Amino acid sequence: MVMFNVTRKETAPIDGQKPGTSGLRKKVKVFTRPNYLHNFVQSTFNALSAEKVRGATLVVSGDGRYYSKDAIQIITKMAAANGVRRVWIGQNGLLSTPAVSAVIRERVGSDGSKATGAFILTASHNPGGPSEDFGIKYNMDNGGPAPEGITDKIYENTKTIKEYSIAEDLPDVDISAVGVTSFGGPEGQFDVEVFDSASDYVKLMKSIFDFELIRKLLSSPKFTFCYDALHGVAGAYAKRIFVEELGAQESSLLNCTPKEDFGGGHPDPNLTYAKELVARMGLSKSNTQDEPPEFGAAADGDADRNMILGKRFFVTPSDSVAIIAANAVESIPYFSAGLKGVARSMPTSAALDVVAKNLNLKFFEVPTGWKFFGNLMDAGLCSICGEESFGTGSDHIREKDGIWAVLAWLSILAHKNKENLDGGKLVTVEDIVRKHWATYGRHYYTRYDYENVDAGAAKELMANLVKMQSSLPEVNECRLNFACVYFKCKNLYITSAWKVLKLLNCIVKGIRSDVSKVVNADEFEYKDPVDGSISKHQGIRYLFEDGSRLVFRLSGTGSEGATIRLYIEQYEKDPSKIGRDSQEALAPLVEVALKLSKMEQFTGRSAPTVIT
Ligand code: G6P
Ligand code: ZN
Repeated sequence: MVMFNVTRKETAPIDGQKPGTSGLRKKVKVFTRPNYLHNFVQSTFNALSAEKVRGATLVVSGDGRYYSKDAIQIITKMAAANGVRRVWIGQNGLLSTPAVSAVIRERVGSDGSKATGAFILTASHNPGGPSEDFGIKYNMDNGGPAPEGITDKIYENTKTIKEYSIAEDLPDVDISAVGVTSFGGPEGQFDVEVFDSASDYVKLMKSIFDFELIRKLLSSPKFTFCYDALHGVAGAYAKRIFVEELGAQESSLLNCTPKEDFGGGHPDPNLTYAKELVARMGLSKSNTQDEPPEFGAAADGDADRNMILGKRFFVTPSDSVAIIAANAVESIPYFSAGLKGVARSMPTSAALDVVAKNLNLKFFEVPTGWKFFGNLMDAGLCSICGEESFGTGSDHIREKDGIWAVLAWLSILAHKNKENLDGGKLVTVEDIVRKHWATYGRHYYTRYDYENVDAGAAKELMANLVKMQSSLPEVNECRLNFACVYFKCKNLYITSAWKVLKLLNCIVKGIRSDVSKVVNADEFEYKDPVDGSISKHQGIRYLFEDGSRLVFRLSGTGSEGATIRLYIEQYEKDPSKIGRDSQEALAPLVEVALKLSKMEQFTGRSAPTVIT
């Protein structure tokens, strides 16, 4: 057995190591500065406390982005020096974020051991490569991200750190070959186990979904399918699950070879960045000649996010979680006994609220960040949850889960088409969504992102929005709009006295009638019902009389400058009005939001970087 020694190295605090919404994310050139990664890892070990680290079984893997392989070797050497008993590594250092969560919760090591936590090496949907992003986050023994109590401690430790421990003479481990290598250190044996990245996750999925039923759908010539991993780690699971287990054609996989730089792309599954899939699904201007597939989906770099598409049809993430919740009990065996409750993040549309109300389910609205769902799930209060930011998941693990969401949709489609595969008309994604809107009403929804704006300007814009919350009459003046009066006159078909009155009112007051009145405004604050902890300043809300909402937040996942997110939502119950184009339906509200926030004045931007 190869022996190693422990060295204590002197170091000094490095600024700016505060973990964001989901771990520490910085440019690779920052992470590779002397001691940068080392300081963060030692600060994490110190925050967990020596007793918890000694003898621990740690998972270390990620989405395979540039610098992961080096980082895995460094963390393994530091783990050995800090008395960790075992390090588990997915083959080639690959494990999706949901698979890490599954491994922590489900995997039993070759010696009967169970994992106590994980370092996940990912910057999620941010691009990768030598001049792009790297990231690291710690997950706890429940499989979920470290709570704020721990991440705050980590940050405090990074500000005072003086030394770290490392086994410099521990040889690099070969992470390409499955197997266990044992070493001997001052505190005894240390094992590194490299294991197949997909098996534990695949096993878990098979215990949740009816694979036989989905297989019938996917192998039917009537149903066409396309999955885009955007060269992220989802590719390592897609072939195993969709092709080998479920019988999809190999040609239905796009960009499913994981790459260190995601092929130079931006691995974020939305209409802007998943260009190839969007074109294949018939949703872009450069439509391909072929008939688009019936179903399309994409994942982000670490495979926790998902985008669901039908033929020439986009499903908003807010609708997606509501539809999964509404259909789960009848379509997914894991939920057949009923749902414990459902939850969404605050900026996510209220489509899920309506389902919860109708089905009489417990409902929770939490701040942005998956960790808030974890507490509810650990307490048995929530089965299904989702976020507008393309995250959907359930209490099978403690992370959102991109492939799970695809399997959930395939289950719903398979269930609804049980009788239709041999004859009869296929129930499509679009049919399911439209029927949902007809039953529950439609929440028109869009998000405007202003990426990489000046951090100072973004702060000022937010401060101004908070200040204006104390003078709602002034806010309501933003609805003054003479162009609107003109527009209304031009388009009005006078069919009732009521409409005439409304128009006159509009002309007299100069107030647009297509946007209702702001009746309330606040900053979202959350009291965790399980541990009583309070999270303040979780987004600025303007709430309108008709249930419409404007929400403003600063992103917590960027690595440079600031990203302002503007969320716009309007509820429509009238079945005759649920079929409009969402950008068109929301245009008046968008106009008010931009005026209210003085977006261009503060940021100098006349248009958002991304619209989803
Ligand atoms: C990560 C978290 C999500 C969260 C998202 C928000 O993906 O896992 O739970 O919704 O970040 O990102 P933002 O950039 O809006 O802070
Ligand atoms: Zn992600």
